[in-house]
Amino acid sequence: MAKVLIATDKPFASAAVEGVRKIIETQGYELLLLEKYTSQDELIAAVADVDAMIIRSDKATKEVIDAAKNLKVIVRAGAGFDNIDLQACTANGVVAMNTPGQNSNAVAELVFGMMVYVTRSFYNGKSGVELKDKKIGIHAFGNVGQNVGRIAKGFGMEVYAYDPFMTDEQIKAAGAIPLSSAEDLYGMCDYVSLHIPATAQTMKSINYDLLNRMPKGGVLINTARKEVIDEEGIIQLMNDRPDFKYISDITPNNAAEYAPFEGRYFFTPKKMGAQTEEANVNAGLAAAKQIVSFLEHGDTKFKVNK
Ligand code: 3PG
Repeated sequence: MAKVLIATDKPFASAAVEGVRKIIETQGYELLLLEKYTSQDELIAAVADVDAMIIRSDKATKEVIDAAKNLKVIVRAGAGFDNIDLQACTANGVVAMNTPGQNSNAVAELVFGMMVYVTRSFYNGKSGVELKDKKIGIHAFGNVGQNVGRIAKGFGMEVYAYDPFMTDEQIKAAGAIPLSSAEDLYGMCDYVSLHIPATAQTMKSINYDLLNRMPKGGVLINTARKEVIDEEGIIQLMNDRPDFKYISDITPNNAAEYAPFEGRYFFTPKKMGAQTEEANVNAGLAAAKQIVSFLEHGDTKFKVNK
C-alpha cells in the first residue's frame, strides 16, 4: 500500500485535507499528515518510508529527499517550486511536480486586498488615494498575473504587462498592454505587481535602479518571493524616496530596517496569498490526483525536474 504524506508547515484548510484523504484512500493508499512542524528533523523523520508527498512552501532540501528512501514523487501544491532541491530529486529518481494555476486567483485577490489597505492609509482615518485610472504594471504575466489584470480592470485601472516569455500578441490576448522591458514597466506604472519566480536569474533583480524608475507615489506589491528583491537597494530607495511604498506577502529578512518608514510598508508575517479554502482545495486535490495518476499510470504531465 503506497504511503502519501502531506507535510505542511502552514496547513491546508481542513476541507482540502479531507478532499485529499478521499482521493488517496479511495485508491487504497494510506494518508499521513505532518502539520505545523517546528524543525527540519521532524520532516526528515516523517518522510522515512513514504512513496509520495505533498508540500507547500516547505523546504524539500537534499537532506529531506535523501532521507525519503522510498520516495517516487513529490508534488508542490502551488506554483513556485524554488523550495525543492530538483537536483537531489533527479539524482534519486524522484519526480517533482507543481500544480500551476490552482491558487492563482487567491494570490491575485490578496494583491488588491493589500493595495487597498496601504493606499487607504491602513484604515487609520487619514485620506488615501484611489486605484481608478492609475496604471498597474504586471511583472510576469502568467496565471497569477493574468488574474491580477482581470481584477485591476474592475477597479478601472490601466493594465500593462511585461513578460519575457510571452509575445506581445499573447499578452494582448490575455488582456494587458504589452511593454518591451522591465525598465519600461517600472518607468510608467504607478503600481507594479511582481509575479516572477525565484531563480538564479531573478534573485535580487528588483533593485534600486529599476524601482527608482517608478513615478512619484509608486507602490511595489510583492506576492512572489522575497528572494527576488535586492533588500539593501529597496531600503536605500525607501530612504531616498519618501513617496515610495512597498507591500509584500512575506516579511523580508531585513524587516527591522523598515521601522523608520512607518505608513509606507506592509508585510504579512506568513505568506497568505494562497491561503484560502478554495485555493487549498484546488491545489491539494490537484496534487493528490497527480500522485495517483503518476503512481498508477506513470503520468508526468506536471513534472518540473529534468
Ligand atoms: C505558490 O508558489 O504557489 C505560492 O507562493 C503559495 O505558496 P504557499 O502554498 O506556501 O502558500
